[in-house]
Amino acid sequence: MPDKSFYATTPIYYVNDAPHIGHAYTTVAGDALTRWRRQRGESVVFLTGTDEHGTKVQRKAEENGVSPQEWVDRLVAEHWRPVLETLDIANDDFIRTTEKRHRIGVQRFWEVLQESGQVYPEAYEGPYCVGCEEFKVAADLEEGTGEFAGQQVCRIHHRPVEQLSEQNWWFRLSDYTQPLLEHYERHPDAVAPRSAYNEVVSFIRQGLSDISMSRSSVSWGIPLPWDEEQVVYVWFDALLNYITAIGYGDESRTGFFDRTWPADVHLVGKDILRFHAVYWPAMLMAAGLPLPGQVFAHGWLLVGGEKMSKTKLTGIAPTAITDVFGTDAFRYYFLRAINFGADGSFSWEDMRDRYTAELANGLGNLASRSAAMIGKYYDGILPEPGPYSNADLVLQDHLARAALDADAAMLALDFSTAIGAVRGFIDAVNHYVTDQEPWVLAKDEERRERLGTVLYTIAESLRAISVLYHPIMPGSMATLWQSLGAGESVGPLADQLVTDIGWGRLAPGSTVAKPGQLFPRLPDEETP
Ligand code: ME8
Ligand code: MG
Repeated sequence: MPDKSFYATTPIYYVNDAPHIGHAYTTVAGDALTRWRRQRGESVVFLTGTDEHGTKVQRKAEENGVSPQEWVDRLVAEHWRPVLETLDIANDDFIRTTEKRHRIGVQRFWEVLQESGQVYPEAYEGPYCVGCEEFKVAADLEEGTGEFAGQQVCRIHHRPVEQLSEQNWWFRLSDYTQPLLEHYERHPDAVAPRSAYNEVVSFIRQGLSDISMSRSSVSWGIPLPWDEEQVVYVWFDALLNYITAIGYGDESRTGFFDRTWPADVHLVGKDILRFHAVYWPAMLMAAGLPLPGQVFAHGWLLVGGEKMSKTKLTGIAPTAITDVFGTDAFRYYFLRAINFGADGSFSWEDMRDRYTAELANGLGNLASRSAAMIGKYYDGILPEPGPYSNADLVLQDHLARAALDADAAMLALDFSTAIGAVRGFIDAVNHYVTDQEPWVLAKDEERRERLGTVLYTIAESLRAISVLYHPIMPGSMATLWQSLGAGESVGPLADQLVTDIGWGRLAPGSTVAKPGQLFPRLPDEETP
């Protein structure tokens, strides 16, 4: 029986509309993390998907004059699956909450809790935000402004809440106040970053109240097995995707479930922290299942100081950016420019500046100059290195350190620092080229061996860079890898271990070709 897999998830996104760069952000982070883990030789399961039930989706379908099922099928086929191609996401599975495997697992789960006396019927009277799909309390609301003046609005969506009055089934969440506090005391990394941990713990300390787990006035959902008049409250349906996708409720998949659960990390935006760090672990405790290793709540992409949002129609489509800069630059930019955990804004200027400085000039130029010199001085055949000088050894040391630093940062989900470590090495290689002046060495037949060592050192550095950057920029790093002839020397890029970066792997004598434009020059000032 193999060891447990590293299991990472993104939220499953509401299909009330097409994805924007906020959704892309979480998914790209999960993809970079899991690609990195795979390149440590780990077995990985990376899950994403769509949340298709609930009032928000149902209403959107109605507004468009189609059934909810038609609506979600269309949105998933036309937008949510294609965006994974746009972003070059290597997910292992994609779960939709309208799938049979999910419905069966959700019904099984709540049946277990109902049978063990953890749900009971009771009336719910109070506010509900359809944007959040959440029962609210007074502290979650604020006075509306503008067209909503005089009304209570949601603090996140700034739209009026609705007053519900319905007979529901309730989950005994209040039983889990103490168990959750003890859990978080024993596992201080179970919620990250620290600010999110503190927020969760102080929320639980106030004492948890029982919560509705079903809706009687909603029809678009999964019926309760013991009361077909009601559907499971959309959040208590959606959270279960993390276990239904890997086989909860399916006897034939027990082995896979046991190798995969618990999740090592649930990546979420801070908007849905409470669901993931309070309700979800309480549900798992109630069912006697192990708890996830970590919930990581990243920050928001902001528009005019507010969270970019489908509900508020402030989203930028990922393709608006990838069409100009390419998929890899998109992935690189968001992981590099924003500290994972903090809020950030997208700006065309900043994107353009980093693209030009860090990708086109920093890395793209290095790769094309290196190939050009090997072409010119060695007919495109990688030369044999001679004895290494001190400068060569310093560069090799820098690489070893950069690889270690990048690994530590990636494991801590500090993408920006990980990229910074590789970037520091790229800068060092560029300085090395300037200092060693291969074009001067090339004029002197007696220094032919030194020229070979310098060009080999540059090519071998690029080999290492393509391995370390592959989880961030899979497409362009594969191109670079091929151009170095590394595939023939060392094998497929995806199999290269980031934890064994090594030196001297490229085989002298292999063919080095020009990689083409890894990061093409941008059209002048054409970006919006
Ligand atoms: O909440 N900045 O779905 P959702 C950063 N279906 N990330 C953002 C973002 C922004 N402006 N906007 C969205 C739901 N995201 C539920 C989840 S999980 C069991 C159910 C990302 O479509 C971020 O990951 O509203 C956020 O938490 C998620 O999309 C919310 O997506
Ligand atoms: Mg949302």
